[in-house]
Amino acid sequence: MLAPAMWWRDAVVYQVYPRSFQDSDGDGVGDLRGIAERLEHLAYLGVDALWLSPIYPSPLADFGYDVSDYTDVDPRFGMLSELDALVASAHGLGLRVLLDFVLCHTSIEHPWFREHPDRYIWSPVDGPPNNWVAAFGGPAWSRDERSGRWYLHSFYPEQPDLDWRNPELVEAMKGVVRFWLERGVDGFRLDAVNLILKDAELRDDPPATGEFPFPRAAESATLEHVYSDNRPDAIQALRAVRAAAGDALLVGEVYLPTSQCARWLEVLDLVFGFELLFTPWEGEPLRAAIDRAVTLERVAWVMSNHDFDRLATRVGAENLRAAAVLLLTLPGTAFVYQGDEIGLANGPGHEPPFDRAGRDRLRHPMQWDASARGFTTGEPWLQLVDPQERNVESQRGDPGSLLELYRRLTALRRTLGEGFRLLDAEPGVVAFERGAHTVAVNTTAEPRTAPRGEIVLATHAETGLPPHAAVIVRN
Ligand code: NOJ
Repeated sequence: MLAPAMWWRDAVVYQVYPRSFQDSDGDGVGDLRGIAERLEHLAYLGVDALWLSPIYPSPLADFGYDVSDYTDVDPRFGMLSELDALVASAHGLGLRVLLDFVLCHTSIEHPWFREHPDRYIWSPVDGPPNNWVAAFGGPAWSRDERSGRWYLHSFYPEQPDLDWRNPELVEAMKGVVRFWLERGVDGFRLDAVNLILKDAELRDDPPATGEFPFPRAAESATLEHVYSDNRPDAIQALRAVRAAAGDALLVGEVYLPTSQCARWLEVLDLVFGFELLFTPWEGEPLRAAIDRAVTLERVAWVMSNHDFDRLATRVGAENLRAAAVLLLTLPGTAFVYQGDEIGLANGPGHEPPFDRAGRDRLRHPMQWDASARGFTTGEPWLQLVDPQERNVESQRGDPGSLLELYRRLTALRRTLGEGFRLLDAEPGVVAFERGAHTVAVNTTAEPRTAPRGEIVLATHAETGLPPHAAVIVRN
């Protein structure tokens, strides 16, 4: 591990989706050697760390989020020695490496499901014991044909939930954490960690009384997930992970409004601030979302990832420059999903779909150059979206490109200074002070007034605060 501790405080973390980053062997699927070959891109961008979406052996029911062996690398991605080499190269460039720790469920093909069934959650009756609903819809209980018993799965039926009340499971998972830390990784993104514990009595969830502010499958939105999610004793279970992780970074995918996340920070270093991802690109709602989220001591801002519409699709290409400024000037840690730095939008996905939840569209390969050969010399597992229109090679060195804007922002954010205060602003503008600087982001299609001060960065050439623009001034 690289020193010092707390390196992540104002860091920028780049999310790599390994299948789609860089293929090195021509099979059309990205791999670890490919990622290692492209680390220079991350160093050039000026990010501090990369988070690898799951690289473990998996039957791909949920594209790696169904793990069948926690302590190995899927042969499609390479070998353990290549992971070691990737970590070493990253460290050589001053980049930390985070792995995705899918700790609430395994693949149904994980040997534990047969060899250690007590590590999973089973119904005490012959059928579903309650009304819990899976995240992608349908009942959260399925019958295991071999044993005839019913098991819990918060996601797909191929992803049985682990029982974190079982000390033997806890010990096994601590071993997993230690295994990767000994190989030099710097921390973990904890997948769906709000689901780590469920009600021990498996009580029914009551009907929803209000709306959950984040997307949920229709069926799942009809219930208040008080017994199947976000349990008060979850923090206790996580203490075991912390004990094994020591000072390593633990960033939680706590899929809850930030107002419910404070106690998670007793054990985690960071939780994702999903508010920015689920708030429309409009000044007032964004301002309110930021106001709510900054009350949390440590937030990992995220505007896009492998689960939801890409940033360009969600906010529109015309707003990408301003969105980059917002993401990279808020206080705290920022996560950038691969491809956002060149403005990659959703693609058409695949016919027939690989992902049953419709997420292929957000996972198209990186566009390194106009030829589409930059990603693979073979047939890409998903077609590239529009490599001729946007790619890393053409944007690199072009001072007007989105890529160069990201690069300037990763450097500039280090100089902004401490302190944060949201400011009153004209309609549709998000404005705040960061240290001795003022940041103003115009989410509208009309010009607004720029804050007074010496311009440090402007997303557009025109003076003032043009439509869709952002400026940073020194007060
Ligand atoms: C959250 C991950 O980001 C998503 O891709 C996955 O489907 C679920 N957790 C289940 O692991």
